Amino acid sequence: MAGAQDARTGKTRLRGTRVQGKKVFITGGAQGLGACFGRMLADEGAQVALTDVNLDGAEATAAAINEKHPGAAIALKHDVVSKDDWSRALEEAARRMDGISVLINNAGVGSFGTIETETWENWRRVQDIDVDSIFIGTQLAMPYLKDSQPASIINISSVAGMIADGMMLSYNTAKAAVWMMTKSIALHCARSGYDVRCNSVHPVFTRTPIIDPIVALGGGGEEGEKRLSRQIPMRRLGDPEDVGYCVVYLASDESRFVTASEFKIDGGITAQ
Ligand SMILES: NC(=O)c1ccc[n+]([C@@H]2O[C@H](COP(=O)([O-])OP(=O)(O)OC[C@H]3O[C@@H](n4cnc5c(N)ncnc54)[C@H](O)[C@@H]3O)[C@@H](O)[C@H]2O)c1
Repeated sequence: MAGAQDARTGKTRLRGTRVQGKKVFITGGAQGLGACFGRMLADEGAQVALTDVNLDGAEATAAAINEKHPGAAIALKHDVVSKDDWSRALEEAARRMDGISVLINNAGVGSFGTIETETWENWRRVQDIDVDSIFIGTQLAMPYLKDSQPASIINISSVAGMIADGMMLSYNTAKAAVWMMTKSIALHCARSGYDVRCNSVHPVFTRTPIIDPIVALGGGGEEGEKRLSRQIPMRRLGDPEDVGYCVVYLASDESRFVTASEFKIDGGITAQ
């Protein structure tokens, strides 16, 4: 078996088996959290399809994974607001991986704006990318997931879906909708007798390009990160791997009795 680097210790170890045989479809897989999920899931034995509007980025991430684990990753061009793109990407991923057993709805955009400054166009863009895409995509993915039971849907929401900020009107609203949509999907699947689970993950500020504008507001660089960290009881930002460990658990059969739940990866911020 190929050696894999442990995300936490940096040590090389044999490829893990926690999600061996899982076929994972990850939206927004070119960079940030999605790319990290792809790497960590492949390290634990999964096959991953990384989809993104940024095909070059998705291809680069897939190439790095395949260097460690040959054949473990594919990259697909996919805009999550397009129903046609969803149909095409799901069909191709299922054909090339021989099924889809895990769907990670991760693609998303951040946004600033108050009730007085937000524009209708930006509000619509955020709801389209962060919420409506999950409805469209999960509905289209259901037949594939039902064919590959036990299956798992993992929706990446945010602590911003649980605690509000006057500046984040559209984002707060979108991420709260993802939280509740998750529960409705989970209950439908459970009561229909499907072994298809659905859970949401709620990270706090985590070091990916999406937080660059917020870090910049605090002066940028280390100082900007330090300022942001002051809001978090554990006094640091998240690393993508902090969220990845939760995602690996939810993708695996270790979480086989877990559905309709929310997982806060937030250094304690929502407890205040
Ligand atoms: N990093 C954080 O602090 C944080 C905290 C809470 C929640 N989140 C959520 O995590 C998810 C991933 O964010 P990230 O931090 O990795 O951000 P990121 O900006 O680094 O990555 C987002 C990815 O989504 C892709 N994307 C954007 N619009 C798309 C579209 N229409 N179709 C397909 N792909 C699209 C981008 O190209 C990019 O590769 C998002 O849903 C975000 O809201 C992030």
